[in-house]
Formats: sequence, C-alpha cells, structure tokens
Amino acid sequence: MFFSSTRSSSFGRHLVLPFMVPTHTGTSVIRALLFGFTLMVIGATAPLAGAQKVELSVDVSKAGAKIDRNIFGQFAEHLGHGVYEGIWVGPDSKIPNTRGIRSDVVAALKAIRVPNVRWPGGCFADEYHWRKGIGAQRTATLNPNWGGVIEPNTFGTHEFLDFLDQIGADAYISVNVGSGTPQEAAEWLEYMTTAQPTTLAKERAANGHPAPYKVPYLGIGNESWDCGGNMTPDYYLSQMKIYSHFVRNFNPAQQDKQQMLKIAVGPGGDGPRWTEWTETVMKAYQHHSWSWDINGLSMHNYTVVRWPPSYASVGFGETEYSQILKSTLEMDGLIRKHSAIMDMYDPNKKVALVVDEWGGWYAPLPGSNPGFLVQQNSLRDAILAALNLNIFARHADRVRMANIAQMINVLQAMIMTDKEKMVLTPTYYVFKMYVPFQDATFVPVTFDAGQYTHDNITLPRVDAIAAKDTTGKLWLEITNLDPNQPVEIEASLAGITAKSAAGETLTAPQVDSVNTFDAPNLVAPKPASAKVQGGKLTLKLEPKSVTVVSVEQ
Ligand code: AHR
Repeated sequence: MFFSSTRSSSFGRHLVLPFMVPTHTGTSVIRALLFGFTLMVIGATAPLAGAQKVELSVDVSKAGAKIDRNIFGQFAEHLGHGVYEGIWVGPDSKIPNTRGIRSDVVAALKAIRVPNVRWPGGCFADEYHWRKGIGAQRTATLNPNWGGVIEPNTFGTHEFLDFLDQIGADAYISVNVGSGTPQEAAEWLEYMTTAQPTTLAKERAANGHPAPYKVPYLGIGNESWDCGGNMTPDYYLSQMKIYSHFVRNFNPAQQDKQQMLKIAVGPGGDGPRWTEWTETVMKAYQHHSWSWDINGLSMHNYTVVRWPPSYASVGFGETEYSQILKSTLEMDGLIRKHSAIMDMYDPNKKVALVVDEWGGWYAPLPGSNPGFLVQQNSLRDAILAALNLNIFARHADRVRMANIAQMINVLQAMIMTDKEKMVLTPTYYVFKMYVPFQDATFVPVTFDAGQYTHDNITLPRVDAIAAKDTTGKLWLEITNLDPNQPVEIEASLAGITAKSAAGETLTAPQVDSVNTFDAPNLVAPKPASAKVQGGKLTLKLEPKSVTVVSVEQ
C-alpha cells in the first residue's frame, strides 16, 4: 500500500467529488456565430490527398474583448515533484540553479511568458502555515493530501517569490481558510507587502528582502466545498467576507491602479450544488458593502470522463482520444452556465471567472506514487490545451484568468524533470505557440467546423480563434481534431490587406505520442505551410494538429 489510512482517506475523497461529474453540453458542430466578411478565399496551394475543405472568415474590423494574458497562468502546488525537484533543488545541488531554483526550468518558463503562478495549492493551501516556510530554521511537517510525505518547508514565501522574479511572473497566493485564521493570513500579507518598519517587515528584511513584495492576486481558500473545509455556500460566504476585509495588501505600489485582486472560491461542476454556490456568492456580491469585495470567482474543471481518473495518459487509441476531447469541450457549457448566473448579479462583468484549475487528469503512471499525480503528456493533451484556451478566448469578457494544473511533474504539466534531466511536453509547446495571443484582442472567426466521428463520438473537425496582437498583427490558431484526415483551410480576411503568412504547427505520428528524456523532440512545432495570394490565406493542416499563423500586412 502506498497510502497510510489518512492518505488513502484523503485521496479517496477525490473519488466521489461531485465536481468531477462531467457536464453534457458538447456540440458536434461549432458555428462561431459572428460577423460578415468581405473576401472569399481561393485555394492557393495544391490540395492534400483526402483533405477536407473548411472555409473561415475573419473580420479584423469587428475586434472584441482583450484576451487577458492571465488565462495562460500556471499552478504550482506542493504535490509530488511539482515544487521539490521540479522547481527547487537547493543551492548545493549539482543541478545548475540560482539560489536553489533550477536554471533549466526557469529558462523554459521564461520562453512561454508565464503571466502568473498560483501557489501553494490546491488542497495543500488549506493546510499551509506560512511561518513554517520562512527564516533559517524551517519546520518539517506532513503533506496529508498528497502521499503523506514530509513537507520540509524549504520552499516557502521567499523562495516562491524569488522563483517568480526569475521567470517574470506575478504571484497568485491562496491563503489558508480551511485550517488557518484570518489573523494568520492577514499577518502573511503584512509580512510580504508592508513598506513600513513593522516587526513583520523587519523580519522579512532580516530574511533577505527589505523591499515589500507585490501580491497582485489573492485566492481566498481553495475548494472550500471539499478539501478546503467542507463548507456550505453560506458558511464559506461568511468566512470569505472576513478574509476579504482583513487580509490587506499594504504595498504602496498596490494602493491605486495595481490593487490586489481577490478571488473567491467558486464552483467545481455544473449541477445544482455548483449553481447554488455561484448564486450564493454572486448574490451577496451584488449588495456588497465598502468593507468587503471580490474581483474574481474561481472555477475548477478537470477533463477526466470518470472518477477515479482511469484513462491512460499514454498507450491509448482513437476511442480514448475522442472521448477525452469530447469531454474537454464541455468546458464551454460550464463557463456559459456560471457566466449566466454571474451576469444576473454582475451585468458589467466586474468579477472575472477564474478557471484556476483545469486540464486532463488521468490514471497515475504505473509504478509512480498515486498521491503524486504523475501522468504522461501526449499530443492529445496539446489538442486538449488548445481547445480550452480557445474556449477561454471566446469568453474573454468574463474569463480573465486561468491556471492549468499543474506546471511541473504533476497532472497536465508543461515540464517533466528527473534529477538533472528535463523534457518539455506537447502542452508546453501549445503555450509557447499561443504567446502572441497574450493580451491580444479577440477577432471573430466564422466557420462551419464540419464533423469527425469515431466510435459514435462526434466532434467538430476543426476549431479556430483569431486575434490582433498589441502591434496590430493578425494571428490565427486552427486545430484539426480529426486524427486521420488533413484539412485545407481557406480563410477570407476582412479589414486588412494580407501580404504573407507564416507559422508553426504541432503534430506527431500518434495521438498518444509523447516526448521523453530519450526522445525529447517527437512532439515539437515545425514550420506550417501557409500562403497568402490575392489577400487570401490558405493553410494545410495535418491530422491531429495545432497550428498558429501570423498574417503580415
Ligand atoms: O490539482 C490537484 C488537486 O485538485 C488540487 O489540490 C485540488 O484543488 C483539486 O481537487
């Protein structure tokens, strides 16, 4: 047995969570209902054998909401080798590091411009006591949620914020509501953010950081309906108001424009339990007083199909590929459902829907500690990531932050490490290809996606988004979900005079192809075949591929 009784009961709780029940909102055809177009496209390249034709129309003059770069956020929990070994190797390690933080991981994360990192959990956050993770003497405790292993607390507040400084990301700190107190959380924020010479600020300075830290995002609890304290919506609401009031950010630079945004715990599914939760928090928000406020409502939604997670992360076939993608598309319906409730109480969309845990959750890799949530990351995950990022982009007016679970070595990771070795996953490459979409302006794309059917599972054949970056350049992302048929895209581009196009595509021999330490480049981007003729864009998509192109004017 891997688990002690505590561990197994903790993990067992994960087997029955209502938030794990899949929603049923998938559609087989996506018609992005949007606007007109002025140019029709003529194929400018030789047809691919057996290729399906899909016409897109893009109208740059109808640009919409900003795609907040925070939707490309990451999540780093004290779980398995997510932090220890994944980020932290210690200053005395032979693995190249800066103040204990591994250099290869920092370089890789800088390249995907991580906007924010959520920390220290997850379920771990509601058992985390920050004082154990500061100063010369750290307190070793236990991590009952995740394998019952010893938590050395060598990676604490200063190490996390140093890591963020090294990768250039913002802090999204989740405070302990489940087993902590408002006083403990308030003192943590004072310790981190005050510029005045309080005893806590002096302690921070003595620990190596005289200047106040910035904390742009504060999570008030995590899954307070479950591992965060099994609270009812009303009980959570009363706790949240207390934390919202007392857990203050004192950083002088965050008193005006850069005020810390507070994110309340939100739903974990689409059933009545979850709509009641959203309703309770948002109804209260509508009449909130000067003494409490929230700026975001969290939502968690994993792609799992059934619990306990039993789908293999590698060594699967087309049926499992289709089932997982079908399930992941349910994210759209879930966002619509909770956004509709939020719209009733917050029609001006002041409160963001923050999807701060999402991704594929599969069976633990054989031989791994099941409490460490180790899984492989395949081409299927790259496609899953693209589909979700596109859903977030389409809801850019409400979904302004998201955090994939989890950054390194856990669940749908960007990076995997094994001692001194590191490999970048297919999901990493999707995040890299999507960098131009960070803070870009959403541009409507109209298309008839067509259908791909396997084993009675019908999916849209393609998915697509477009956006205008901060320099005005147009970017398109097009995913071909069909694992067997290539697609020829013909895109009419209204509102710009297109001259040329270039881009990258990500595909691999099999739906379950993965990158390994021995073969790290099996799933890596390659140049895409895109052409512009007469102002019209044509593009060949390989089966099961994610493609991003930019259009030069
Ligand atoms: O990401 C793993 C766990 O999933 C998180 O700790 C928890 O919030 C969720 O149940």
